[in-house]
Formats: sequence, C-alpha cells, structure tokens
Amino acid sequence: MKSGEKIIDENRQGEALILPKSEKTSKKLFLESYGCQMNFSDSEIVASILTKNGFETTTNFEEADLIFVNTCSIRDNAEQRVRNRLNDFKRVKRKNPNALVGVLGCMAERLKHQFLEEEKLVDLVVGPDAYRDLPSLIEQAEDGHKGVNVILSKEETYADLTPVRLNSNGVCAFISITRGCDNMCSFCVVPFTRGRERSRDPESIVKEAKELVALGYKEVTLLGQNVDSYIWSGGGLKKEILSEEQKASSVNFAQLLEKVALIDPTLRVRFSTSHPKDLTDDVVHMMAKYENICDYIHLPVQSGSSRILEMMNRGYTREWYLDRIRSIRSIIPECGISTDIITGFCSETEEDHAQTLSLMEEVKFDFAYMFMYSERPKTLAERKYKDDVSEEVKNRRHNEVMAIQARNSAIGVERGLNKVHKVLIEGTSKKSQEMLMGRNSQNAVVVFPKENYKKGDYVNVLVTKCTATTMIGHVVSIA
Ligand code: 5AD
Ligand code: SF4
Repeated sequence: MKSGEKIIDENRQGEALILPKSEKTSKKLFLESYGCQMNFSDSEIVASILTKNGFETTTNFEEADLIFVNTCSIRDNAEQRVRNRLNDFKRVKRKNPNALVGVLGCMAERLKHQFLEEEKLVDLVVGPDAYRDLPSLIEQAEDGHKGVNVILSKEETYADLTPVRLNSNGVCAFISITRGCDNMCSFCVVPFTRGRERSRDPESIVKEAKELVALGYKEVTLLGQNVDSYIWSGGGLKKEILSEEQKASSVNFAQLLEKVALIDPTLRVRFSTSHPKDLTDDVVHMMAKYENICDYIHLPVQSGSSRILEMMNRGYTREWYLDRIRSIRSIIPECGISTDIITGFCSETEEDHAQTLSLMEEVKFDFAYMFMYSERPKTLAERKYKDDVSEEVKNRRHNEVMAIQARNSAIGVERGLNKVHKVLIEGTSKKSQEMLMGRNSQNAVVVFPKENYKKGDYVNVLVTKCTATTMIGHVVSIA
C-alpha cells in the first residue's frame, strides 16, 4: 500500500543519481529525480548524453558544477518539493557563481517563465523532449545566457541512445517504449507536460533488452503512460490513421511483449502502465503463454463511480473495469493486480466514494497508490469543473481508502503463505544484511536468509511467515 508520490520505489524520490565513473571526466554533475519511473528513466538518457560530454556525477551538490533536477508536475505537492529544493541550491550559487542550476522534465515545460524570470537561480530549463540539445544549452548557459528548450516533439523517442543505468542493482532495468499521452484524462497534466503519444521502434527496444541481458540483467520493465496503446507501423503513426495494409504489418503491444519475451527465457518481462479501456485479452493471453512475462498488471481504476469516471474522461465504466478484472482472472487466476485511486475529485459525493470502496472490496487489489485530487492548471477538470470537495473530506476519504487497501494487501500477502514462490533476487533486505530480498512473478516482495545465494539468482522460496506487506520464508531449491 502506498500513498503520496507514485513511483516504483518511493525511497528513491529526490535521491542523487550516480553513474559509473568515466575515464576522461572533468566537470561534476549532481542529478536529482522526482516523480514517476518514466522520469527516472529519462534521467538515464540525460546521463547518457552528459557522460559523452565530459561529466561525472557527484552525490554532493555543494561540489557540483552542474545541478539538474528532473521534476514532476503531477500533483501540486510534487512541485512544492522541487521549489523547496531549488532554494537549497542557492547556497551553491553563492559559493560558486560559475555553477549552473537546471530544471528538467515536466515542471520545465509547465513553468519556464517563472523559473527564468521570478526565480533567478535557474540557468537552464529543458523539457522532456529536448535532452539531445543539452550540451549546446549548457554551453550557452556557461556563456552567461539562459539555456531554454521546452519544445515538445511528435517524434522524439531517444530510440538510438543507450541509457546509462543509474543507481542500478544490476538485475532490473526499465525500458521506455512510448512517450507522452493522448488520453486527456480530465485531472491529468501529463498530456500538457509530455506531449503527444509516440511509440518507439520495436527493433531498438529488443536491441536494448538484448544489451541488458548481455550485461547480466534479469528483468526488464517496459514503460509507457499507456503501454496498451503501443503501436509501431514503421514511422510511429497512430492506429486511427493507419491504412489496412499498414495495420497488418504493424506491431502492437501484445506482439512487442512476445518479441521481448523471446529474447531469453531467463529474462523476466514486466510492463507499466496498463489502461483499462485499452488492455486487450490478447495481452493477457500473451502473458499466459510465456512463463517469463510476469503475472502482474498495474491497472489504474481512479474511481469506482461510473459518473466520476465519465467526468474524468477515462473512457470506461465501473462495469467495464470489473469485466476486465474478471477476464484477467479467468485467463491468469493468480495474476497480481494493483491500481491507482484518486479521492475527492470534483463533485464526488459520499455515494460516489462508497462506490470506490465497494469496488476495492470486490477486486481486492494486491497493491494501490492512493492520491487526494490535486487540481492542475490547464487540465480539462480545471477549466470545466469546480474543485469543490474540501481538503478535510478528501483527507477522510483518502484515509478510508487506505484502510481498506491495508486490509486487502495483507489478505494478498497471506494468500502466499505455505506456498513455494519463484523469486528473482534483487539484493540485500533493507532490514538485515543477513537476509536477501526479491519479488515473485506477482510483484510481491519476498525476504529470506542469504545462505550462499546472490542477487540475480532465481530461487524457489517456501513462504512460512508474513508481515502486512512482505512474505518471509526460506529457499527450498534453485529455480
Ligand atoms: N490529482 C491527484 N492524482 C493524480 N494523478 C494524476 N493526476 C492527478 C491529480 N491531478 C494520479 C492518477 C494517475 C497517477 C499517475 O497519478 O491516479 O494514475
Ligand atoms: Fe494522465 Fe490519463 Fe495519460 Fe495516465 S492515461 S498519463 S492519467 S492522461
């Protein structure tokens, strides 16, 4: 169960990202990331570009020549955190007037004027589609001019760049397969900050996955705002404008999954995020067909009320969502399912909220990211609806949603008791050096004594105990 910033590992929020030392480096880069996994993935593209241009990273911003913050705009509190952080960097500028501070990512696109005019401490403002321009923008800023590029692209996928894996455990990596989003959910700022949806060439995705396998990685997660709308037809065109002939030769998400799964049976394949209106049975059948495609789907529902879903412009009803869940469970009975939920969206009544609670009771999600609605500028909801649920009510509903999820997560973990789980070892447990941690196919965390096992191994673990969120057991065999 999680509340607040939605990322794969909340502990990584705002941490300095470290890249391997390169041979001929001179300048020091401090790179900090906020927000979703896509942002962390983008930081790896930024690192790739900057290592080629003579930078090495530091975890101490006080000694940096260049400070980059890769920012998130999804909720107001995410933006506030970055603003506070920028104030810390003022100190560096006072000590070292040549040091440059840059804002990257979603806030750059949204707030370039404020950053450059009101808050004079920012020298570079670079949006998510302009990272190739970084070396020349840095040069420009070094010459005393502001370096700005927030132009969004219809084509950029950084397909030819090999990301430099940052703070990697050497076992799991993320590969972005689409950028941007065309869905226009009424609460969401992403279509404005990240632009139009575009898919990446499947050959470049397969190539990146193969390179990761060669480096010893054992798991890849295919990333996109809505992976189910992935479509490649030679030039990244959208489904609606393809001719029948182009459609026949195009690659959809189910087919992409198969291509990646076939690279190596010992490479686990995950993906995120799925959209309930687009998730097809073909994708679920493909998951069932390959043992190495993990039985786990992140399927954000947002609300259990069809009236609210309509206002959110989600493109499905409560019944449609429940039907998708039934379909997943009929094809893969043990599939792990997680979700995102927003409480207190415009005009949400107690009855709408009760519908969300009852949907949660019905589906029993293994995991959920839960948020209070935060109005975002420019979105459809901001323009059309009133943010009329009080903070107090939002908060109370959020607490009720969290309480149900805590129970459901515990039920999910308990279901794993006395069973053997195939686990990919990711590293040492946070709580004890003597224990290892990994995940089962359903994405549940499993902890067990180290013995002689090491990260990257697959092991069969008999789960004998559990906490509210974690399974605990011991290895019974190598998997
Ligand atoms: N307010 C609250 N939560 C939001 N999300 C997106 N926009 C908002 C907003 N304005 C949540 C949704 C989405 C997740 C990434 O963040 O649940 O699925
Ligand atoms: Fe935002 Fe909706 Fe796109 Fe997700 S699918 S990024 S919530 S607009």
